[in-house]
Amino acid sequence: TELDFSLEKIEKGGFEHFMLKEIFEQPEVMRDVMRGRVRVEEGLVHLGGIHDYLDRLKQAKRIVICACGTSWHAGLIGEYLIEEFARIPVEVDYASEFRYRNPIVSSDDVVIVISQSGETADTLAALRLAKEKGAMVMGICNVVGSTIARETLCGMYTHAGPEVGVASTKAFTAQVIVLFMLAIAMSKGRTISHEEIRLNLRELAEVPDKVARILEQNDAIKEMAVKLKDARNALYLGRGYNFPVALEGALKLKEISYIHAEGYPAAEMKHGPIALIDEDMPVIVIATRDNTYAKILSNIEEVRSRKGRVIAIASEGDREIERLTKDVIYIPQASAAVLPLLTVIPLQLLSYHVATLRGCNVDRPRNLAKSVTVE
Ligand code: G6P
Repeated sequence: TELDFSLEKIEKGGFEHFMLKEIFEQPEVMRDVMRGRVRVEEGLVHLGGIHDYLDRLKQAKRIVICACGTSWHAGLIGEYLIEEFARIPVEVDYASEFRYRNPIVSSDDVVIVISQSGETADTLAALRLAKEKGAMVMGICNVVGSTIARETLCGMYTHAGPEVGVASTKAFTAQVIVLFMLAIAMSKGRTISHEEIRLNLRELAEVPDKVARILEQNDAIKEMAVKLKDARNALYLGRGYNFPVALEGALKLKEISYIHAEGYPAAEMKHGPIALIDEDMPVIVIATRDNTYAKILSNIEEVRSRKGRVIAIASEGDREIERLTKDVIYIPQASAAVLPLLTVIPLQLLSYHVATLRGCNVDRPRNLAKSVTVE
């Protein structure tokens, strides 16, 4: 009806699509996620929802993260964060694989389930199985009062607000921030110094402003999307903290533009995908200034020598990268652990623009559902 239509228009807040609105909401959402939880100067993270269980969490022999889709990608970043800061081994499992393979879980383990909707059938089943086996089960959910939020022993809400676009954007970055805060809380008094905690929290607190600066490049990113829009395939490469971002970038592109895309850890390229590279294959490389930088430059050289077209996501001030490709999107400098929160933003925008240029329905892509409640 006409009324619904105008309501929807108001809900989109002047943006063409919910997805674009949600991408642009991220600086504000990120501040909301941290509000009242991150105290930079005191070197403190306060997570009310898990406060009483934090000691048990710190004593876990192992942490298993279960999720699906984009939430699973957030889980992979969580693995890197928790292992780096808290030095507790982490395994990340697709909820559907976990539940059907008679997993080894006991009361020494903590299982963390991550779900935007809190209703994903496989994630819910994984939670119930882990509980049955005696593990402490924590949740990271966006929808308050959702089934997963209710059935977990304790947890943290992402406070990203309702996400309407089927392709997850702001819920993903909110999940990563929650995992970052959790990793810091778990390491406090154990594995990293007070000063390191303060440094890391300061980096985290600076992320929303840096994201806002990346969003200002929307027009330039749209121009780059023109070059991608007729591709039939695309390859996304990243290393370290940016490897899960490569997976997420590829997922975003295939979900809404229907271009086949794959994400790969950059060094694995030579074990397969390199065979696909020719002048028709765009390769999106995340090449930020971190400890993997030199290696990723040589990966770019390998792509170029096979005539692949490279789009790079690089750190501001990097002049070297310009020798290798003209198509560069710059992001502000930041410590490695917060980089995924920055590098994913241009990839979200890139897939959004590619999809709209191709005339796709970005908010309701074919065959996909916002929340998958069937098994
Ligand atoms: C569906 C959605 C994805 C989402 C996944 C997991 O496939 O289309 O965007 O990442 O489910 O959903 P959850 O609500 O559990 O995070």
